[in-house]
Amino acid sequence: MRLTQSADNTFTLFSERYREHYHSMREGALRETLEKHIRPAFTYAALGEKIRVLDICFGLGYNSLCAIANFGGKIEIISPEIDRDLIAYLPNLPYPEALEPYRQIIKQISENGRFKDDRVSLEVVLDDATRLVQTQIGEFDVIFQDPFSIRANEELWSERFFADLYRLLKPSGVLTTYSASHIVRARMKNVGFLIYAHPFAADSGLRKGTIASKNALDLPPL
Ligand SMILES: C[S@@+](CC[C@H](N)C(=O)[O-])C[C@H]1O[C@@H](n2cnc3c(N)ncnc32)[C@H](O)[C@@H]1O
Repeated sequence: MRLTQSADNTFTLFSERYREHYHSMREGALRETLEKHIRPAFTYAALGEKIRVLDICFGLGYNSLCAIANFGGKIEIISPEIDRDLIAYLPNLPYPEALEPYRQIIKQISENGRFKDDRVSLEVVLDDATRLVQTQIGEFDVIFQDPFSIRANEELWSERFFADLYRLLKPSGVLTTYSASHIVRARMKNVGFLIYAHPFAADSGLRKGTIASKNALDLPPL
C-alpha cells in the first residue's frame, strides 16, 4: 500500500496487490466519493428518516463516512472488506478535513469492526463480499458498488454478483457506481436493473458513472 495525494488534494492509497488506486487520482478521492456515490444516491433514492446502506467495499471508508456525514437521520451501514491489514492500518491515514469529525468511527472500526451510537450503526464484515451478499443481511435503501476495476475485481462485477445486489436493493432504493462500462451496464440490465447515466457528471467535469434502480427514476433511461 502506498499513500498518494489525488487531484482534489485528498489522500488515497495505491494497492500493490491489485495494481490500482483506491480512488480516481484524476477526479480526486473525496470529490469522486461525493459526486459518484453520495450525491446521486441521496438525490434519487426515496429515503425515510432511517436508512440502510450496503457499501461494497469499505476500503478507506470514504463512502461510508460521507454517507454518515451527509444524511441527518438514522443510518445503518454494512460493508464487506477482505483486507484485514488495511482495516487495522486506517487510523494512520490522513483523512479529508470534512471527515476528521468521524475519526472515532475509524478508530473503533479498526479495533473491532463495529461502531454504534444513537444515530449511526456501522459494521465492517471482514469477509469476501460475494459470500456476504448471500447471507441474510436484509434489504438496503442505498448500495455503493465501489470495488476495484472489472480487470482487478472480476468477481464483484459478475452477473451473479449483480443478481445478489438486485435482490438486496429495496424497490425505492438506488445503486451507484463509478463504472460506465458497457459490459457492466449490460450485466446490470440482464439481472433486471433499470440503469441511468449520472446526471451530475457532465456539470462537474467528471466521467459518467451509473445509477441503477428497480423502479423507474426521473432520468433519461439508457
Ligand atoms: C476501490 S477500493 C474501495 C474504496 C472504498 N469504497 C472507499 O470509499 O475508500 C476496493 C476495496 O475492495 C476490497 N476488496 C476487493 N475484493 C474484495 C472482495 N472479494 N470482498 C471484499 N472486499 C474486497 C479491497 O481490499 C479494497 O479495499
